[in-house]
Amino acid sequence: MVNVQIDGVWHQFPKGTRLIEACEQVGSYVPRYCYHKKLSSPGNCRMCLIEMGIPKMGPDRKPVLGEDGHPEINWMPRPQICCATDVSEGLGVRTNSPLVEECRHGVMEFLLINHPLDCPICDQAGECRLQEFSVEYGRQDSRFLENKVKKPKNVELGPRVTLDDERCILCSRCIRFCKEIANDDVLGFIDRGSYSTLTAHPGRRLENNYSLNTVDICPVGALTSSDFRFKMRVWFLKETKSFCTSCATGCNTIIGSRENVIYRQTPRENDAVNSCWMCDYGRLNVDYLQSDRRLFEPLLREENVLQPVTWSHAIVSAAAQLKPFVGWQIAILASGRMTNEELWLTRQLAKSLGVTLLDIVPRTGPGDDILLSEDRNPNSNGARLLGLASENGKMAGQIREAVLSGQVKALISLGENPVRLGIGNEFLERLPVYLVMDLLSNETTGFATAVLPSLGFAEKRGSMINGKGRLQRLNRAVRGPGQARDDWEILRDLLQAISGGNGIYTIEDVFREMSGVVPELSGLTLSRIGDLGVQVMEAHRSPNPPGEPAREKVREREKEKHPQ
Ligand code: SF4
Ligand code: SF4
Ligand code: FES
Repeated sequence: MVNVQIDGVWHQFPKGTRLIEACEQVGSYVPRYCYHKKLSSPGNCRMCLIEMGIPKMGPDRKPVLGEDGHPEINWMPRPQICCATDVSEGLGVRTNSPLVEECRHGVMEFLLINHPLDCPICDQAGECRLQEFSVEYGRQDSRFLENKVKKPKNVELGPRVTLDDERCILCSRCIRFCKEIANDDVLGFIDRGSYSTLTAHPGRRLENNYSLNTVDICPVGALTSSDFRFKMRVWFLKETKSFCTSCATGCNTIIGSRENVIYRQTPRENDAVNSCWMCDYGRLNVDYLQSDRRLFEPLLREENVLQPVTWSHAIVSAAAQLKPFVGWQIAILASGRMTNEELWLTRQLAKSLGVTLLDIVPRTGPGDDILLSEDRNPNSNGARLLGLASENGKMAGQIREAVLSGQVKALISLGENPVRLGIGNEFLERLPVYLVMDLLSNETTGFATAVLPSLGFAEKRGSMINGKGRLQRLNRAVRGPGQARDDWEILRDLLQAISGGNGIYTIEDVFREMSGVVPELSGLTLSRIGDLGVQVMEAHRSPNPPGEPAREKVREREKEKHPQ
């Protein structure tokens, strides 16, 4: 630990703490543009200027101590940046002196010289650092008489990112993110002085799978998401803490919605999962919740046509359809996209029907060493823990064989498409009972004997266990469409119709029942999971978040730039 004086008060910090972080920790927030705690610190915006001093040395080369027993400070005559300096013994800092305030006013005046000031039509308005610091450190009038430099506007940097160069304050966060985190050195500055412009290298496009993180970290409205651009003012968005369910990593997110429509997903910091980032694939994978293929009402096959019915009729009929069959004639295709609560009830359902043909459908895709996991099921570990997933999908193969051979007479598909498992429509057509619980229709839905419409990840609550064994919680951001119901409620009602009352009234009841049996979940409740999740299993099925390896890279890069 080292002793540092900040605004007249002495504090202790671990060695290696960035000065700007130390100031923030003790409540002296220093404004910044180029500094980002997960990236290297080039110190180029100069917004974080402070007054700094080092201990005064006596003739014996020892610090001169003041009356309070701490070293006296020798203040440097010029301001220093605090984002590229680590704390050191006896360092003194002033973050709110008249000189510091004057410096901030000066830097703001320079930054705004060529800025277009088009806040009324800028997507960043409401979350723009330039706007925020202008309130505190900006001038009310402009002393600039010359013409502003015009730069390219509306530049498509890549398929998902649009650049307005006039708004860029040349902080280089986007350049460093691409180089240090996304491993895709694609952006850079060209030209000099006032004419410096951000652009992609010749022949290159910003199209890596992490490109939208540059939009998140751009402190101004220069980089905008082509998907979100001009769609919604950020202050109208309701923010719901959740996580991405497009792969096993489970990146923590904030879902921005308004009037039941999701407008965007942005990453939420969690060093145990995703650091500050998420991939574009997961971020944009929400449109299906508003797809034309959504199922709105329960359907029953009557006179060979699927007819809309009431929920109670659908549940009673679905249970009645299953009754004539014994365990080995029924198979359940569960999903690694179901929550733990849904999987638990599925297990109860299988038990009450005597079903042993039960598995989740494996779902894989190319992964990377950054965040994206090869396992595209968000809750494979939950299914493993609750005993619903066989090793390497062996049981899923047996289910296929049993359906193809005609042994299975009733197939229950929970959010999965049997075609993905190699069970073709011709086999589904022959099944006396084919129960479907899903949010979207697919090519097999037409063969169902009962269709039970359910909800998507942003429309329900529940928990999942990510590839690293971390239990995380989904929160409801929007309501489901039509008569679609929470999956756990559908399963609970089906279970009740088959085996009688089960005393489950809320999702908390399901979790309580589950945590009473599964040792890894014991002592936990849905609310105790918290916003950052809880480690419940040892597992290594998704990449390490860009934390330590990236940090090392950042330090190496800093050493290259500022040799000691
Ligand atoms: S586009 Fe944004 S993040 Fe990139 S250098 Fe300009 S201001 Fe910084
Ligand atoms: S890495 Fe996986 S969990 Fe994270 S955003 Fe991408 S798809 Fe979603
Ligand atoms: S934040 Fe320190 S120079 Fe930019």
